[in-house]
Amino acid sequence: MTVIKKLNDLDITLSKLSRKKILSLVPTMGSLHKGHISLIKSALKYSDEVWVSIFVNPTQFNDINDYKKYPVNSKEDINIIKSIDQNLNIFIPSIDDIYGKKIIRDKYNFDGIDKVLEGIKRPGHFDGVATIVKKLFEIFNPNFVFFGEKDFQQTMVVQKLIDDYFKDIKMIVCPTIRAKNGLALSSRNSLLSKKAKKNISIIYDSLLFAKQNFYKFSNKELKKIIKSNIEKNQGFLLEYFELRCSKTLKICNHENNHNSSCRAFICVVADGVRLIDNLLMHNEN
Ligand code: PAF
Repeated sequence: MTVIKKLNDLDITLSKLSRKKILSLVPTMGSLHKGHISLIKSALKYSDEVWVSIFVNPTQFNDINDYKKYPVNSKEDINIIKSIDQNLNIFIPSIDDIYGKKIIRDKYNFDGIDKVLEGIKRPGHFDGVATIVKKLFEIFNPNFVFFGEKDFQQTMVVQKLIDDYFKDIKMIVCPTIRAKNGLALSSRNSLLSKKAKKNISIIYDSLLFAKQNFYKFSNKELKKIIKSNIEKNQGFLLEYFELRCSKTLKICNHENNHNSSCRAFICVVADGVRLIDNLLMHNEN
């Protein structure tokens, strides 16, 4: 296993790689969980050489406290990766290596997909994601890249970045991995209070409720019921619940769900921890 912390060293290592080798990249911010492990395992199936990058990217945080609170566990992350496969490679750059002296978030045009949901609640977030993802794609020049469906809007933004700048890269979106209670795995889950953890299944339960009752209620009615159920729990707040098309992110409902692409997007703040999730309102074949 290779662990590289300096961009120069990485450049040297990558320059020695045969061009014939299929290279996959799994970008992460560390604090790895089973969701990341499933991305890494998928990457191993697709490629000769897999790199996992671990970098908590400052430009995608619109709230400095959120950035400071973000869990960091590099040692544990390296052990987890080692236990998956000895041939995996890890890149853990410093902020300096990635951004130099000026930490700048570049601006992108995502044709509006960044102007809804997370884009409204976290101004600049997707520009920050695209800034780091573009830098990583330029460094690694990968054949395949792996992202999780939990951050569905992020996968759309990355796909737009690929369409605009990296036509040869193929993105593989892997299914959300859930805990037994349905909670989508996320590095932020470790920040949940004991009290919040007890009732946190309400997030996935709300998505399932929406799916089961999609043809019965209007979007407004669904949201009203879901909000009331969630906010019955002290310290829980529904930030958004919206039904949007998986292809365009335009608002959709049971009347215009012609191509079965309607997806529910939810964001709940549980005792100060902000969690997102989503679910397609139609069974996939
Ligand atoms: O999904 C994440 O963990 C991050 O947004 C990513 C893609 C690694 C960019 O920092």
